[in-house]
Amino acid sequence: MASMLLSRQLTCAIQQYCRLFVPGCRSVSQAAAKIDVDFDYDGPLMKTEVPGPRSRELMKQLNGIQNAESVHFFCNYNESRGNYLVDVDGNRMLDLYSQISSLPIGYSHPALVKLVQQPQNVGTFINRPALGVFPPDNFPEKLKESLLSVAPKGLSQIVTMSCGSCSNENAFKTIFMWYRNKERGHTAATKEELDTCMINQYPGCPDYSILSFMGAFHGRTMGCLATTHSKAIHKLDIPSFDWPIAPFPRLKYPLEEFVKENQQEEARCLEEVEDLIVKYRKKKKTVAGIVVEPIQSEGGDNHASDDFFRKLRDIARKHGCAFLVDEVQTGGGCTGKFWAHEHWGLDDPADVMSFSKKMMTGGYFHKEEFRPNAPYRIFNTWLGDPSKNLLIAEVINVIKREDLLSNVTHAGKALLTGLLDLQARYPHLISRARGRGTFCSFDAPDETTRNKFILKARNKGVVLGGCGDRSIRFRPTLVFRDHHAHLFLNIFSDILADFK
Ligand SMILES: Cc1ncc(COP(=O)(O)O)c(C=O)c1O
Repeated sequence: MASMLLSRQLTCAIQQYCRLFVPGCRSVSQAAAKIDVDFDYDGPLMKTEVPGPRSRELMKQLNGIQNAESVHFFCNYNESRGNYLVDVDGNRMLDLYSQISSLPIGYSHPALVKLVQQPQNVGTFINRPALGVFPPDNFPEKLKESLLSVAPKGLSQIVTMSCGSCSNENAFKTIFMWYRNKERGHTAATKEELDTCMINQYPGCPDYSILSFMGAFHGRTMGCLATTHSKAIHKLDIPSFDWPIAPFPRLKYPLEEFVKENQQEEARCLEEVEDLIVKYRKKKKTVAGIVVEPIQSEGGDNHASDDFFRKLRDIARKHGCAFLVDEVQTGGGCTGKFWAHEHWGLDDPADVMSFSKKMMTGGYFHKEEFRPNAPYRIFNTWLGDPSKNLLIAEVINVIKREDLLSNVTHAGKALLTGLLDLQARYPHLISRARGRGTFCSFDAPDETTRNKFILKARNKGVVLGGCGDRSIRFRPTLVFRDHHAHLFLNIFSDILADFK
C-alpha cells in the first residue's frame, strides 16, 4: 500500500525532472513515463551533489577504521525501491549498475519483503547452519525448487558457496581432483601422494594449471587471481602460479563491417589456446581446465562470437581439459537467457559453470563425473546460506511469473538502439556500443572522459559503472523496462550535448 501511494505521489516525475533538471531536454526518445511496477519510483530526484554532505561525513568516519576510498556514496536501502537507489542525502538515482550487477529484481521487491516476513522463514534467516554437516530438512527440496530448476543443460550437480571468488576457487579444485583421478586411473591415492601433499610437493600436489584469458576476471582469492588479468591493482604483490594466459579476441565494431577481420582475430586466439595447452603439457604444467567468461566483464565488456566459444569448447574436449564457464556476472538472466552461454548453442554442455551475484548465493553446477570422491574435499563451514536459497527461489518465481527474460531482451534492445543512435551523433565521445540483453556497454575516448561521464550522470540522477580502461557498462536489474532506458538516454543525450 505504502509503495502504491508513493508511486501515485510521484506520478509524472520524469516530465517534471526533464523540466527542472534537463534544460531544453534534447530527447532521443519520445517514450513517456510508464508505471508498471508499483514498487518502483517514477524518476530521479536530486537534492545535493553526490556524494552529499552526509555521505562525505560517513566516508570520513569509515576511512578512519579502514581504507574506504572505493566508496562512491552511502545509501539508504530502506528508501530504495525498484530501479532507484536512494542515498543518505535523500538523492534518488536510477541505478544502472545495481550493486555491481548483483541485484536481480530491484530494491525492496514486495515478493521478497513478504518472504522475509513469513514466520516460517524466520528460523532460516537467523540460524545460519554449517550446511555440509547439519543441513535443515528442506535443504534438498529448496535446492531443487530454486537453483536446480535453472540448472544449465547436462549439469545435474550443485555446490553452493558464499561469493563468486569462492565458487571459482572450489570449481578449480573440483577440476584438479577430477583430472588427477582420471590420470591415476580412478584408484586410491598412494602413501607418497598423501605424504607429499602435506609439504606442498609433487606428486601429492601436481603441477596442474588452469588456462585463462588476458582481460579475464575470475575473482580475488589466490587461485582465482592467477586467472584474473583485468587490472594490475588486483594482482600486485600477490604470489601467483605460472599458468597459461591466452589472448581474448579484440573485436572491431560495428561487427557487420568487420566480419573477416573478427573471424581472423578469433582464429588467432584459438590457435594460441591450443599452442599453450601443448606448451604447458611439455613444461609439465598440464592444463586441467579452461576458464572463460561469456562476456569479459570487469576487463572491459569484451565479447566474442558464439562460434568462438563453440570452438573453444571443442578444443577443451580434444585436449581432455575441463571447460569451466564463469557466469558470475553474466548469469541470472541479464543477457536475455538465464545463462549467457545458452546463446552459444553448445552440443556438449560445459563441464562446470559458476555463478553468484544476481543468484543471491555463490556456487557452481557440474557434471556428475566431477563429483569429488570423498567428503570434505570440497568443503567450508557455511557452504552458502539457506536463507539465500529461499530468496533465489522467490526471485526465480518472479522472473518466470513476470517473464523477465523477455523484458530484458526488449529493454536491452531499447537501450542498445539508443546507444547506437548516440554513437552516430557523437562519434568522438562514444564508440563500440555493444551488448546482449541489457548487458550493454560502450567505450569513451579515454579513461578521464569515461570517469567524467560517470560523475556527470550521477549528479543528474543516474548511477553508471565503468569497466576496463575506458568502458561504461550497463548492469540494470531484470525489472529495468523500456521507459527506464528512454529516461537514461534522454539524460545522457544532454550530457553529451553539453560535454566539455
Ligand atoms: C566474472 C566474475 N567472476 C568472478 C567474480 C568474483 O566474484 P566475487 O566478487 O563475488 O568474489 C566476479 C566479480 O565481479 C566476476 O565478475
